[in-house]
Amino acid sequence: VSRWTEVGALTNTLENRSVLIRGRAQTIRAVGKNMAFVVVRERGFTVQCVATVQPDAVSRQMVKYVAGLSRESIIDIEGVVSAPNVEIKGTTQQVEVQVRKVYCVSKAAVLPINIEDAARSDAEIEKALQAGEKLVRVNQDTRLNNRVLDLRTPANQGIFRIQSQVGNIFRQFLLSEDFFEIHTPKLIAGSSEGGAAVFRLDYKGQPACLAQSPQLHKQMAICGDFGRVFEIGGVYRAEDSYTHRHLCEFIGLDVEMEIKSHYSEVMDIVGRLFVTIFDTLNKTCEKELEAVGRQYPFEPLKYLPETLRLTFEEGIQMLKDAGVEVDPMGDLNTEVERKLGQLVLEKYGTEFYILHRYPLAVRPFYTMPCHDNHAYSNSFDVFIRGEEIISGAQRVHVPELLAERAQACGIELKTISTYIDAFRYGAPPHGGFGVGLERVVMLFCGLNNIRKTSLFPRDPLRIAP
Ligand code: 4AD
Repeated sequence: VSRWTEVGALTNTLENRSVLIRGRAQTIRAVGKNMAFVVVRERGFTVQCVATVQPDAVSRQMVKYVAGLSRESIIDIEGVVSAPNVEIKGTTQQVEVQVRKVYCVSKAAVLPINIEDAARSDAEIEKALQAGEKLVRVNQDTRLNNRVLDLRTPANQGIFRIQSQVGNIFRQFLLSEDFFEIHTPKLIAGSSEGGAAVFRLDYKGQPACLAQSPQLHKQMAICGDFGRVFEIGGVYRAEDSYTHRHLCEFIGLDVEMEIKSHYSEVMDIVGRLFVTIFDTLNKTCEKELEAVGRQYPFEPLKYLPETLRLTFEEGIQMLKDAGVEVDPMGDLNTEVERKLGQLVLEKYGTEFYILHRYPLAVRPFYTMPCHDNHAYSNSFDVFIRGEEIISGAQRVHVPELLAERAQACGIELKTISTYIDAFRYGAPPHGGFGVGLERVVMLFCGLNNIRKTSLFPRDPLRIAP
């Protein structure tokens, strides 16, 4: 049996019992020379500990020591649980601990940001400022520069537990659908998505890249008769855009599967997977979602039990009907995607939907053209609250066509020759998709910046901490 009691387990059933707890000194307050209070926090739970001078038990020196503890230091306290008659305000636990012994395990230096200020919502900050309270608004760069402190806020504790749960549900769902997990190389010879957003490096004298996605190797796994695979891993993009939704490194949730006759088989997995993710988050992360919402208020995501699918052409028509000028064969920009999201919400009552059959010209080289019209492709994007979280497609599995498409897209064939060769010995029709984990959490929680859902974000201006 552990000698330790967790702060979250301190209830009045332990009244008069002696306990040993460890946590951070969240706030410290002295009342004269004979009394000091310290609120101890452990994994989001808080309890007030009281040191009062008592003959033979607590010396004035010990009270002074408690009063002199620095915020966020890690301390051990041995004390007796007491349950006061009045309601205790400002802590999660409705009991106090009467301090007998205290030991500082790790002393915190003066804090560069005040964690309580960093945890306040915009509305709370406005109210406090109007009431004449002195507080410093903690901006995003300051937060990120001091990320280990910023991570201690309740909202961040929630965000990264939700992120963990998304990965968990993704894995569980796919395992139950007969997929299995693979790990593709992140050091590769050529770019996997084309375009300029690729980190180039020197691989023992040979030019190489950091993988922009597991695309090529997850498809090669299908050629290796793996049938249905998924991967959760780092993805690297040398983005030039400094936006609210682009990172240079993010976590990709990738899926690839054989298909029998139509890419709708892939969209079926997407739809059911995400309804399961949303349902399970709402059921199992109530506390975390509430903590996020307290600092960053948001409306729960509206989605349908059966995921809505619209064709690109239908989307263009909706935009045109609403007076938005769009190129019917071009890509949609962020603003237009948002607008379409609004129109879809008004018409169908959902903030989660699939848009499919994109123009071929705006998709990567490995995308399968539509058999009935080569100007279009068997591809799709998926949106939450008007922003893209997934792109997917049926792939070209015919090596000659693949080489032709790669060349047409300006890709040097010799950099992907082993990839194209993989399709020469019989390759099943297949398709898949890639999800950006940080975007899913950002948009499910209605957050305004992807840096909030990346543990240590890497963007064009930041590679530390
Ligand atoms: O749309 P992308 O580039 O598609 C692929 O990587 C394909 N290989 C996927 C496939 O299987 N067809 O990226 C997939 C998802 C995007 O929808 C987006 O959510 C996320 O990855 N993403 C980014 N997230 C953060 N920062 C960036 N710079 C991102 N670029 C893409």
